[in-house]
Amino acid sequence: MSRRGLFSEERSAEVVVDSFGDGTGPRLREILSSLVTHLHAFVKEVQLTDEEWRVGVDFLTATGQSCNDVRQEFILLSDVLGVSTLVETINHRALDDTTEQTVLGPFHMVESPDRELGANIALDGGGEQCLVTGRVTGPEGTPLAGATVDVWQANADGFYDVQQPAIQPHRNLRGLFRTDEDGRFWFRTIVPRFYPIPDDGPVGVLLERTGRHPNRPAHMHFIVAAEGYQPVTTHLFVDDSAYLDSDVVFGVKESLIRQFVVIDDPDRAAKLEFDSPYRAVHFDVTLSQEGERMVASS
Ligand SMILES: [Fe+2]
Repeated sequence: MSRRGLFSEERSAEVVVDSFGDGTGPRLREILSSLVTHLHAFVKEVQLTDEEWRVGVDFLTATGQSCNDVRQEFILLSDVLGVSTLVETINHRALDDTTEQTVLGPFHMVESPDRELGANIALDGGGEQCLVTGRVTGPEGTPLAGATVDVWQANADGFYDVQQPAIQPHRNLRGLFRTDEDGRFWFRTIVPRFYPIPDDGPVGVLLERTGRHPNRPAHMHFIVAAEGYQPVTTHLFVDDSAYLDSDVVFGVKESLIRQFVVIDDPDRAAKLEFDSPYRAVHFDVTLSQEGERMVASS
């Protein structure tokens, strides 16, 4: 007589899903059942060979072994396969008129220092000087006074301070600002440069084997928060940067790209203690009221 519970090629996923016991929580059951079903379908679709299975296991083993306190190769793998951005996207669908969210990235590892509006966060002297201005509002355009604007970016060589502790000044190119009574913020910095994600591990090999470069286009990171509103974690992208069309982690959103205008005006430059010409960018941030995004995405 045939035993229905035995493993077969046809019923493989079903048999594994049926093995989950009564104590399996409903959400865990949902996730694992779907994972097993898709995984088995994938193996059947590509007719995975013994050797290919072993290469896959070795790759995942090496990925795990590359992780340490300052490096998370599995997140990097998730990033370059677009999974991080997909999770971000489905969990933070922006309403039409609010600022889009994008990935946090791995370099918000330290708290940004409090800075006065107008402060210069570029402490190492290199790069093209740049004035950043913007306004934080609610969805109806209400200015949000006292909103926090947390900013961090790479330097002109494409490195964050935490990557070069012996080279860059402490907390270089980081700042935590509070908007004025009109919701406005402004600070001085430099135009960031594109940079490669760490590509000397298994993920780098994957990129190389699939003909991909490891670069992210130039951007500044922002986390903007105000009481009673959904905080937004986002980027401001430099419109003339290389790699805008091929961000290795798929984080670019059209609505977040801004022109960094060249200002050739010695008087205005002098007031900013800049050389002329300098660059300027304006980035308004619109937050949704608490709870609104959840309603919109359900
Ligand atoms: Fe970044």
